[in-house]
Amino acid sequence: MKLLVVGGGGREHTLTWKISRSPLVEKIFCAPGNAGIAEHAECVSVDTSDICGLVEFAEKEKIDLTLVGPEAPLVEGIVDRFNDRGLKIFGPGADAAMLEGSKGFAKKLMAKFNIPTGTFQIFSDADEAIEFIRDMGAPIVVKADGLASGKGVTVAFDEESAITAVKRCICQGAFGRAGHRVVLEEYLDGEEVSILAFTDGKNILMMPSSQDHKAIHDGDKGPNTGGMGAYSPAPVLTDDLRERIEKQIVRPTIDGLRKENCEYRGVLYCGIMITDSGPKVLEFNVRFGDPETQVVVPRLKSDIVPILLACLNGELGKVEAEWTDEAAVCVVLASKGYPGKYEKGKPISGLEEASKVPGALVFHAGTSIKNRKIVTDGGRVLGATALAKDIPSAIQRAYECANAIQFSNKYCRTDIGKKALARLGKRN
Ligand code: AMP
Ligand code: GLY
Repeated sequence: MKLLVVGGGGREHTLTWKISRSPLVEKIFCAPGNAGIAEHAECVSVDTSDICGLVEFAEKEKIDLTLVGPEAPLVEGIVDRFNDRGLKIFGPGADAAMLEGSKGFAKKLMAKFNIPTGTFQIFSDADEAIEFIRDMGAPIVVKADGLASGKGVTVAFDEESAITAVKRCICQGAFGRAGHRVVLEEYLDGEEVSILAFTDGKNILMMPSSQDHKAIHDGDKGPNTGGMGAYSPAPVLTDDLRERIEKQIVRPTIDGLRKENCEYRGVLYCGIMITDSGPKVLEFNVRFGDPETQVVVPRLKSDIVPILLACLNGELGKVEAEWTDEAAVCVVLASKGYPGKYEKGKPISGLEEASKVPGALVFHAGTSIKNRKIVTDGGRVLGATALAKDIPSAIQRAYECANAIQFSNKYCRTDIGKKALARLGKRN
């Protein structure tokens, strides 16, 4: 088979690496890819937003299966466009991708099908939203309705911050059309967990749990990023909670979408808060998470390609996935300044040494090749990932791997996995 992976971050490197191990696959292309992906795939310079260009490429190269990493092309309808041309592609169509494309759509679906989540109201009038904030008081969460590259959410601990966030969205157009409507949501307290599940629209196959570290600094301080590290499994998730998430959240969401005539095929990402009154949905994403993929997919022992195909063919009930009991930890190495401004083009050294750490897997996120040298080319540069017998050993190995890599202005959190250690009763 010939595969095309769309995207060029750590998630796509992990998926390309995994696909490259499948005996079913002869050739992989990645658009646009990165320096690490180039080891497993031919990188082609088509942008992820150029859906016409991607369709053309897939037709020309007779691609048997396309796998989409980021949400934007899914929300834009890449799956429908490929299907119109008879091309196989993994992911939900534009209608079901609204689950991530509109937070209001997701909240209304959850309300209709009794899926546990925070209480909410949707507003497109700033004055009405402000009145609601005054009535409800803080803490309260303000969310731009549409896609805002992870920047559209404000967790406000006082009314003024919530009001400022509403004005930025609705009056100042900080997120363009994506912020013309806002969701005001009840603040949920607890520990977060990410659950990813494969689905063919009816059957689901739950992946192991993971936990992201969204804030830039240790102790979850500072602005949110795309994710500064992750670990899997997440000890906060007991078997009982996992079962509740499957029964009360994942299944009713997939069944609900089918009843609404927008059958969902692909990967469903559930961002969940474990509150005192049980698991509640914070957000849905319509794709693999990043960095979560970097710790979940390496734990999959089975070939991923038959699973992807079964999702498309409605045959997920027939496949089984085997997962390793080993734990995985990923420490993201970022460029200093991220998620704000940062410099690019810094030479990276120590990659070979890092890959020699037992259980290590170094995934590239923002890298490119300049004068035959690997250089930094993004905010999140690399994911220093390691598998080991348990979380404490995986943390040790991931940091060993992270420390072996050098580039000017390298930044990483030093506390990835600390919450898991606290849960496991083992401290540094
Ligand atoms: P989202 O993009 O909706 O996942 O929001 C980004 C982050 O904001 C989440 O990962 C949470 O840390 C936080 N967040 C979102 N919604 C809430 C909520 N209702 N209560 C508390 N924190 C939230
Ligand atoms: N790690 C969060 C996300 O993928 O959206």
